[in-house]
Amino acid sequence: MKLRATAWAHANIALVKYWGKRDLELNLPSAGSLSLTLDGLTTTTTVTFGGAASDTLVVDGSVATEPALGKALRVVAPVRDRAGIDSPVLIESENSFPTGAGLASSASGLAALAKAAIRAAGLDLTDAELSVLARLGSGSACRSIFGGFVQWQAGTAEDGRDSHAVMLFPPEHWDLRTLVTVVEDRPKEVGSTAGMIRSQETSPYHEAFVAHADQDLTAAREAIAARDLAALGRVAERSCLRMHAAMMAGDPPLIYLTSESWQVIEAMLRLRADGVPLFFTADAGPNVKIFCEPVAMTDVEGALRRVACVKQVIQARPGAGAQVVEP
Ligand code: PMV
Repeated sequence: MKLRATAWAHANIALVKYWGKRDLELNLPSAGSLSLTLDGLTTTTTVTFGGAASDTLVVDGSVATEPALGKALRVVAPVRDRAGIDSPVLIESENSFPTGAGLASSASGLAALAKAAIRAAGLDLTDAELSVLARLGSGSACRSIFGGFVQWQAGTAEDGRDSHAVMLFPPEHWDLRTLVTVVEDRPKEVGSTAGMIRSQETSPYHEAFVAHADQDLTAAREAIAARDLAALGRVAERSCLRMHAAMMAGDPPLIYLTSESWQVIEAMLRLRADGVPLFFTADAGPNVKIFCEPVAMTDVEGALRRVACVKQVIQARPGAGAQVVEP
């Protein structure tokens, strides 16, 4: 008998960044992080135990190899153990946005996989347990289990049971809009795990980045509670730029932001100086994300489209947590 289920999850963008692991096997972070789940960027995943002759991952119609398959199997293995399933798994995943370009497809992908896998296996987990399971595949995936404004608590337990996300505010709390500007849609050359290890081992600025996380988390939570865009922007931009500064100070340096990224950032800083409230962030890739209130959307999008290197602008609203589609 085939055990099968489909689920979706949205990507999330960190406002306080996760960059550094205290445990590589379990993806335990050096510090907490905070994100917004985005409704526009979705991965839909079907898990079928007994659906292939050997464990197979298909992403957007192509069979995936390492490291993507290995990450997926880190989520599937504990599910198989707990449910006593020994048949191979077929994982079929579709993204509504370019894969691997710093748009957090691993977050939505592994969260959707965790949700679909436990349903296919007939297991019943709490959202916190599901978040722990998704974390095993990719750290940031633990945040995509939840909707709205989400905090990943670093936790202290060695087995990682308390290192999971929690929802701070639901999507309805604040209609903060995101504009993802795509300047590059090719997968990145250095993945986030390799990048984090390099920063931790070689960057003299890495410790300073980690040391400021708690302060940033408190400031971000207060700003979100008060729906204070300027205050949230100050925290989000400093967390982002300190993360990039730590990477760039590594040996060899790790540079994800390109001249195209800076053209976008500079255009946005000019627009803000002209009186349009907004802030930016960027992850392990060149694509910059802008946040603003709904009233500023037309101005922000217009200014982004006037930047010659911008190929695409994807708009998103705060989104819901991972959901089972069927059965
Ligand atoms: O969980 P990963 O391996 O996809 O790492 C995500 C790292 C950043 O996107 C750069 C920051 C974050 O908090 O999402």
